[in-house]
Amino acid sequence: MIRVNELTKTYGLRKAIDNLTFEARQGEILGFLGPNGAGKTTTMRILTGYMPPSSGEASIAGYDVVKESLEVRKRVGYLPETVPLYTDMTVFDYLKFMADLRHLPNAEERVEETLEMVRLLDRAEGYIGNLSKGMRQRVGLAQALLHRPEVLILDEPTIGLDPAQIIEVRNIIREVGKERTVMLSTHILSEAQQLCDRILIINKGKIVAEDTPENLQARLTGAERVQVRVRGETQDLAEKIAQMKGIQNVQSQGEGLIEFQFAPGQDLRPEVARLVVEAKYDLLEMRSINLSLEEIFLQLTRDDIPVPAETVPVNEE
Ligand SMILES: Nc1ncnc2c1ncn2[C@@H]1O[C@H](COP(=O)(O)OP(=O)(O)OP(=O)(O)O)[C@@H](O)[C@H]1O
Ligand SMILES: [Mg+2]
Repeated sequence: MIRVNELTKTYGLRKAIDNLTFEARQGEILGFLGPNGAGKTTTMRILTGYMPPSSGEASIAGYDVVKESLEVRKRVGYLPETVPLYTDMTVFDYLKFMADLRHLPNAEERVEETLEMVRLLDRAEGYIGNLSKGMRQRVGLAQALLHRPEVLILDEPTIGLDPAQIIEVRNIIREVGKERTVMLSTHILSEAQQLCDRILIINKGKIVAEDTPENLQARLTGAERVQVRVRGETQDLAEKIAQMKGIQNVQSQGEGLIEFQFAPGQDLRPEVARLVVEAKYDLLEMRSINLSLEEIFLQLTRDDIPVPAETVPVNEE
């Protein structure tokens, strides 16, 4: 169980994370999705007790990450963004060393079991320096699993891996996530969709969406984008459409093309058609384009990109 309440971290004047509140239950894989600099690593470092928050609270398995950080470290496994591995040690020796650091009983047996969990038993005697990136990532996972923690925090576990290794690592995460709480960060929307029970989208330190992959997908279908093609100049018409209630993100694409979106759950196609005709435009075409999860993600996180000149301001309603 992970509990986070109004968590904020400030570096100097910059808020790296801003008032985050969320939970993850046992048996749940929570995806933490966001662009570079969104605050994913910062949140994970706080959750694993490596860094205190500026304000707010967080707990792992019921233990406060600041006041009870020793208890937290016993119950959380952490795969950092870059795993500090000793390249001149064998896989087995490194994990044995980590197990001893944690004062784990039956260290050798445990290392072997863990290597089996991450499917690396055949490389136990190999030097870490000679391993591929995917295999090293699995050594990192093994290190995070040695003490059989209830909660696993994985910072971009599949970054930089080839497709075969990505599948391998995802399978391991699914397997070990069955009776644990897993939180993993990623940039890859499809990864979160395939792997996670719930997705939290974070941008510039703030949660911008939180839902199941299915509901996020459904929301997209609700928020379908519509393209209207008319004869002649469209600037005027685009402004009129933007003033309608329940219409968002109107863009003039040039050559008589206007794109916009309905507020979730609304379908105003007849109203738009009427408006076009009443404004004395020839309506040549109206069609819907479904947004992909990728596009919704970009929409939710793109407020830092300058608005193109031809974009009509979004109708706030
Ligand atoms: N030690 C630090 N000192 C100052 N600013 C920092 C520090 N660590 C992170 N930041 C800033 O905090 C913000 C969030 O960074 P963070 O590393 O948490 O993002 P992220 O979501 O993990 O990004 P990425 O996808 O690139 O890994 C960024 O603006 C970053 O520059
Ligand atoms: Mg990061």
